[in-house]
Amino acid sequence: MPPPSVIAIDGPGASGKTTVGRILARKLGYRFIDTGEMYRALTWLALKEGIDLSDEGRLARLAAGTTIEIACHDGTGYNPVLVDGVDVTSAIRSSQVEAAVSAVSRVPRVRQALVAQQRALAEPGRVIVAGRDIGTVVLPQADLKVFLLASAEERARRRYEEQTGGKRQDYGAILAGLRRRDQIDSQRSLSPLRPAEDARVIDTEGLSPEQVANLILGLIGEG
Ligand code: DC
Repeated sequence: MPPPSVIAIDGPGASGKTTVGRILARKLGYRFIDTGEMYRALTWLALKEGIDLSDEGRLARLAAGTTIEIACHDGTGYNPVLVDGVDVTSAIRSSQVEAAVSAVSRVPRVRQALVAQQRALAEPGRVIVAGRDIGTVVLPQADLKVFLLASAEERARRRYEEQTGGKRQDYGAILAGLRRRDQIDSQRSLSPLRPAEDARVIDTEGLSPEQVANLILGLIGEG
């Protein structure tokens, strides 16, 4: 049997979706789409333009009028994120963007605009798509849905260790930020973070990204 063509990976921040998704893309020869990059890129632009984050109308117009290019990559090499042609790959990982992204991503018309782009990107198949609502809303027909879990403490530790150079955030600040985002992402009325009914839930506590990827490959008979 061929492996599933569309694989959705959902889960909270720092649960390993991106790292695992890249490993799978490389092993299967699929494209990888990290939808969190889109919400982050739009948030970066909103902050740059000084938009009031409670102004839903302006955020919606910004989403509709902005071209966000994310690399649909194969898990290798440099994969830039471009907003209207500007490379924002590292800027979208800043603590300012982290703190504001949940406010932007809960706006219904922002989601509508980005979900349409995500569906179009996934259309050709042989793709892994990571996010919060991929299995429930964006691609409910996905052939395989995976939901990754890990405690907030473990996720904060992973984020802490991932940081390289520059200004580092301390562990406590990362943990508090993740908890805040978890709460907003899972309590918003539109597309809240939750596993699809037919998702395979994987507890990643104590597992490396390679081990999680191997578990998923095992599920699809490619392990
Ligand atoms: O996965 P991430 O940390 O890069 O996601 C950044 C934010 O984007 C997260 O706080 C919630 C939002 N997001 C979303 O609402 N829906 C998605 N499909 C992906 C991300």
